[in-house]
Amino acid sequence: MLSRRKFLGASFSVCALPSLSVTGDINKSIKRYKLVADQSHHTFSDDLPSTNLWLYNNHCPGPLITANKGDVLEVFFTNKLDQPTSIHWHGIRNLNKMDGVPGLTQKAVEPGESFTYRFPLNDSGSFWYHAHNRAWEQVSRGLYGALLVLEEQNWMNVRDRVLLIDDWRIDQDGLFDQASLGNLHDWSHRGRLGNFLTVNGKSGPKIDLPFNGSVRLRFINSANARVMVFKLNDGLPAKIISLDGSPCTPFFTDRLTLAPGQRMDAMIADCSQLDNLWEISTRQEFIAARFSPVMTVPVDRGKKYSSDFWYPLPSRINAKIIDIDMRGGAMGNLNYAVFQGEKRDLRDLAINEKKIWALNGKIGSYGLNLGTISLGEVAILRVLNDTAWDHVMHLHGQHFWVKSKEFGDDAKYVLRDTYLMKPKEKADLIFSADNPGLWLFHCHTLEHHAAGMAGVISVI
Ligand code: C2O
Ligand code: CU
Repeated sequence: MLSRRKFLGASFSVCALPSLSVTGDINKSIKRYKLVADQSHHTFSDDLPSTNLWLYNNHCPGPLITANKGDVLEVFFTNKLDQPTSIHWHGIRNLNKMDGVPGLTQKAVEPGESFTYRFPLNDSGSFWYHAHNRAWEQVSRGLYGALLVLEEQNWMNVRDRVLLIDDWRIDQDGLFDQASLGNLHDWSHRGRLGNFLTVNGKSGPKIDLPFNGSVRLRFINSANARVMVFKLNDGLPAKIISLDGSPCTPFFTDRLTLAPGQRMDAMIADCSQLDNLWEISTRQEFIAARFSPVMTVPVDRGKKYSSDFWYPLPSRINAKIIDIDMRGGAMGNLNYAVFQGEKRDLRDLAINEKKIWALNGKIGSYGLNLGTISLGEVAILRVLNDTAWDHVMHLHGQHFWVKSKEFGDDAKYVLRDTYLMKPKEKADLIFSADNPGLWLFHCHTLEHHAAGMAGVISVI
């Protein structure tokens, strides 16, 4: 077991889980995996007791899924939990019926039942998968894993490292803090923040690297609520080559900011320079992981990675504009909201229904249609964060262009699926609606999502 875990932390090229890859048509190989959600236990570090979590295949994080662009991914999923669940493939421009939102795109997978997810992987990049029923609970208990779709002929995967990062809340005994789940104060403020950070399921792990040459660090934030900020040792600048899976125009930064759900791929030209990864979002900086150059791997042939965006910024002439005003939460300006057709006082809604956030004056749900777009049309979600808090807005099924203020003062257009919005910020999320279906739009602070910050964009 221990060596297995070490494997996971080390290099996925070595630990890629067995999958029965059936090659038929050369361009359409099927990658098959089995995932089982179950109660399990895990040890975050040697000085902590083993704690109860809910995991896929008894692994924390869940098994790394890898495939090549153009493959079909088939996941036979079984639910051994005692509550319904589903799996969402975050960032995949998926078939709507495979998107994993119970009550919107599929029926929940009930305890004891199975469901087969099967969909084509048309884009390469860094993705992740996670439970999407009561996600505020199921994800916080550990139901997630990384999904990498490699570019064709990706010989570089020995130089790829996944850093799947979570902050858990553990109690005085070092156990998963169940009592804090569902806390109304968390739900109306920043969400349920953890107090214990892990990288690939371990506290401060050693990450093996090649002795020299380039390395690609694929960061994924799987926390419920914490916006994490990292720096490499001595502020070594990282070259960011991809955001939320899609290549971006490369830029250098010494502060890697990742909101929940977001991914960021950083290229380090010479990995022999790496020693520590620091988390610096709070006043107490600490080492999140240590890099260790120990591996002999083939020489770095300097292959170029793709820098082609999945699609260019579309023309906004004749775009369909959908206004979305976000309000609510603590210290907000929302006194009343419509819940299930009835206008109610927000305090009443908070205390009696645990609903605290509203979109366009309505408590959000999977039944709230925010707008309807014709297939092929360009759409702009004109989003105003009229609250006192950060929100991390995630659109299922497509990536949008946004003039991002996440990387310093000079805002730049980037293609993302999850965008961190500051209080009072207004942003246009621009996309060409090429993927038909009912797509969830929600805050990836999972407590905000549960408390009403969610709605549906219909592409028909
Ligand atoms: Cu990563 Cu609707 O979620
Ligand atoms: Cu939010």
